[in-house]
Amino acid sequence: MFSTVNQGLSKRRFWSTFAGIAGLALVVGLGVLAPLLRPEAPHHPPLAKSDSETQILNTIAEIVRSGESYASVPAADGRMLRVLAEAVNAKSVVEVGTSTGISGLWLCLALNRTGGKLDTFELDPGRAALAHTHFQRAGVDRLVNLVQGDAHRNLRNVKGPVDLAFIDAEKQGYIDYLNVLLPLVRPGGLILAHNINMVPDYVAAVARNPELETVYYTQGGGLAVTLKKR
Ligand SMILES: C[S@@+](CC[C@H](N)C(=O)[O-])C[C@H]1O[C@@H](n2cnc3c(N)ncnc32)[C@H](O)[C@@H]1O
Repeated sequence: MFSTVNQGLSKRRFWSTFAGIAGLALVVGLGVLAPLLRPEAPHHPPLAKSDSETQILNTIAEIVRSGESYASVPAADGRMLRVLAEAVNAKSVVEVGTSTGISGLWLCLALNRTGGKLDTFELDPGRAALAHTHFQRAGVDRLVNLVQGDAHRNLRNVKGPVDLAFIDAEKQGYIDYLNVLLPLVRPGGLILAHNINMVPDYVAAVARNPELETVYYTQGGGLAVTLKKR
């Protein structure tokens, strides 16, 4: 009788230990496998179609090589900026947070084709000066209006319609930038915000607005891509 009770107990202990180990193995296995099952984006470098494109791409590469950049978008995001700006045939692009000009140069690859213009805003005088030099070196300074100073104030001088706005300045400012830019963006235009993981309030604000449709691009630093509906 005593040994039957003991056997029952050890059987139960065996099965609960087995279930625990199996559960743990499943969780660890899924954790290891999940990234392997996710399709990886194929990578290929951008290919220039014209001399002006070559000049812009070379300038971006030189800036990266020389370290004359600050918190700039990685190439994956820059290429996405270019694709989106060209896809909406952007004639008017506004960028908040120029830094030393790298994202602006990616946008200029599109503006070169669309015949559009970039208004870009940077608080820091040193970075703005470097950006100016870089735009000249890339041969796109004629496309760019660089405004040094506080964008919260200077953005109020922008006239719409804006085809594409790109927000990439201080994270606590994103909601104010959204509120100022949204009325200026044309129906069918885009508002892009960089580093989506760092701006939960911004993500909540675009997600709950029925005038907007937002999708998320998670390569590089991550972009919220928001369409102002027609
Ligand atoms: C993440 S960096 C921008 C990177 C740039 N878009 C690129 O990819 O090359 C953010 C920039 O926003 C600028 N910034 C911060 N607050 C600002 C403000 N109130 N007005 C304008 N620029 C601001 C910073 O000085 C900094 O250069």
